[in-house]
Amino acid sequence: MASIFSKWKRHFPFFILYVAFIFLITNSVIFTINYSKQQQQQQDEVVFQNTTTYVRTLKNPEWFKVVARELKDETINIGLVNMDRLKEEVHANAKIVKVHFDPVGEDIKWSDMAPERIDENSKCPYIPMPRFEDYHDLDVVVAKVSQRKHCEDGGLRDVFSVQVNLIVANLLVRSGRSGKNRPVFAVFVGSCDPMWEIYRCDDLVWKKGNSFVYKPDLNRIKELLLLPMGACQFVPPFSNHGEEPWRKLNQLKNQTKHHLHHPREAYVTVLHTSEDYICGAIILAQSIIQTNSTKDLILLADDNISGQAIKALQEAGWKTKRIKRIHSPFSRKDAYNEWNYSKLRIWQLKQYDKLMFIEADMLVNRNLDKFFVYPQMTAAGNYEHHLFNSGLMLVEPSDCTFNTMMKKMMVVESYNGGDQGFLNEMFFWWHRLPAQMNYLKVFVNPDDHLHWINNDVYAVHYTGLKPWKCHKERDCNWDDVKFHRYASHSAHRMWRKVYRSMPKKLRPYCDIFKNNATSPKGH
Ligand SMILES: *[C@@H]1O[C@H](CO)[C@@H](O)[C@H](O)[C@H]1NC(C)=O
Ligand SMILES: *[C@@H]1O[C@H](CO)[C@@H](O)[C@H](O)[C@H]1NC(C)=O
Ligand SMILES: *[C@@H]1O[C@H](CO)[C@@H](O)[C@H](O)[C@H]1NC(C)=O
Ligand SMILES: *[C@@H]1O[C@H](CO)[C@@H](O)[C@H](O)[C@H]1NC(C)=O
Ligand SMILES: *[C@@H]1O[C@H](CO)[C@@H](O)[C@H](O)[C@H]1NC(C)=O
Ligand SMILES: *[C@@H]1O[C@H](CO)[C@@H](O)[C@H](O)[C@H]1NC(C)=O
Repeated sequence: MASIFSKWKRHFPFFILYVAFIFLITNSVIFTINYSKQQQQQQDEVVFQNTTTYVRTLKNPEWFKVVARELKDETINIGLVNMDRLKEEVHANAKIVKVHFDPVGEDIKWSDMAPERIDENSKCPYIPMPRFEDYHDLDVVVAKVSQRKHCEDGGLRDVFSVQVNLIVANLLVRSGRSGKNRPVFAVFVGSCDPMWEIYRCDDLVWKKGNSFVYKPDLNRIKELLLLPMGACQFVPPFSNHGEEPWRKLNQLKNQTKHHLHHPREAYVTVLHTSEDYICGAIILAQSIIQTNSTKDLILLADDNISGQAIKALQEAGWKTKRIKRIHSPFSRKDAYNEWNYSKLRIWQLKQYDKLMFIEADMLVNRNLDKFFVYPQMTAAGNYEHHLFNSGLMLVEPSDCTFNTMMKKMMVVESYNGGDQGFLNEMFFWWHRLPAQMNYLKVFVNPDDHLHWINNDVYAVHYTGLKPWKCHKERDCNWDDVKFHRYASHSAHRMWRKVYRSMPKKLRPYCDIFKNNATSPKGH
């Protein structure tokens, strides 16, 4: 006992020293932690006084790891759009700048972005953009997008959302550090996807919870940004402000890699359910060929199109491909448009980069090849609300676009039960071609008795009774008052001209199928 006590007595001074040492160390550690926390807070405050600073912590948001993996070297420059700070902090080597911009005026409504009618003088409303020269060498643009509960219910026709999406796109191409083969990224934080018209699902590299990381093709975004900000102005060169963007659009196209080889582009049409439109499709192919087009002609047909019809279509110039038709989930049973979603199969033609879809009741009057320069979605207005007519569309095939549409078609309603209503929800941000690119042959002005269509029209859409059902020089729509609004001598003559000038061996095909009508309810 005594010896233990005397040992303890002997060691007591060392023990005191030891305790004192521990105390000092602990305190200094606590002090250091507190100090660095204060520093951190100070730094965070500085961030938003003068927008730029370095933030150092250890915790990274997951999207940051995805981006950092690809941008191994140097500092990572991050621009924030529509958010003041990141919820989680990013570590060393990240430089964050908040992008300042004025929100678009509340008086600007969707109907200003896509008015019912416009002319070549129309201009899109002013949408404020940041001062791009204030932001340099961004590697990542992070933006907060809409926080809605239901993102599945179709188009989010919201002007502010478009502004945010466009600001990100502009920052990527104007302020992005894209030289040296270094990628730039767009990160969206929010419950809904960004606009897939700009940020394609093919470019999505990572997604988790409410964060989406895109690695977009900058050339494609540049093309999009040369077009008007909505369907409020015609695409170049059709507007009075369109010559310069048109030249740039073509320059860009010449630079893209595919241009070196044969560009993978084609006209495409779809036949399904009945053989009603066989003759229409024969004339369509011939009309395109007569304009000396150099593009491929692709026709998708379901099993209801007979082998004999396929042979005729091939002789007329189409390369044919069998498809399974797709039921329109919102059409009535046996309605004229019950299977019109079959059109969506064109997105599966991945051997092409770009397609111009043309409905089989249309005729091409002037060469359209140069308009393959437009991106998805470019179309002409439908003379009805803010919608486009799905009779002629520029689309970019993609499996993930197709699969997304297959998923959404059950929840996104179509106003008319057909593909047009659905596509207008899916691609609510579209680029407007003038009416002469898809001239809907319907005349509503009661003072217009001539129903004249100028010969400079690019493509005519034969609404009403189809010309192939009317085997005479006179348009049969004149024979019935109900159809007078669709009647046009000049349009009918245009169609007859192609019919007469096509190779003689094709005419019998057109004649055999001319009366294979089932239910002529189509419009
Ligand atoms: C931001 O503020 C800090 C501290 O006031 C200063 O050192 C730094 O130079 C400022 N940066 C810019 C870009 O103004
Ligand atoms: C693009 O290339 C084509 C032929 O390759 C040429 O005819 C055209 O002038 C070029 N356009 C521009 C804007 O450079
Ligand atoms: C098309 O096929 C469906 C069944 O697959 C059939 O009910 C319909 O009658 C066919 N229509 C024609 C015009 O052959
Ligand atoms: C198509 O090419 C032929 C032969 O070169 C030419 O005679 C004809 O005028 C061209 N047609 C059009 C619409 O350019
Ligand atoms: C309709 O098409 C078939 C070939 O599928 C053909 O045999 C028939 O003669 C055509 N015409 C009419 C009026 O049914
Ligand atoms: C839908 O398909 C039917 C049958 O093929 C056709 O008559 C009609 O024109 C199509 N409508 C649209 C809007 O594509």
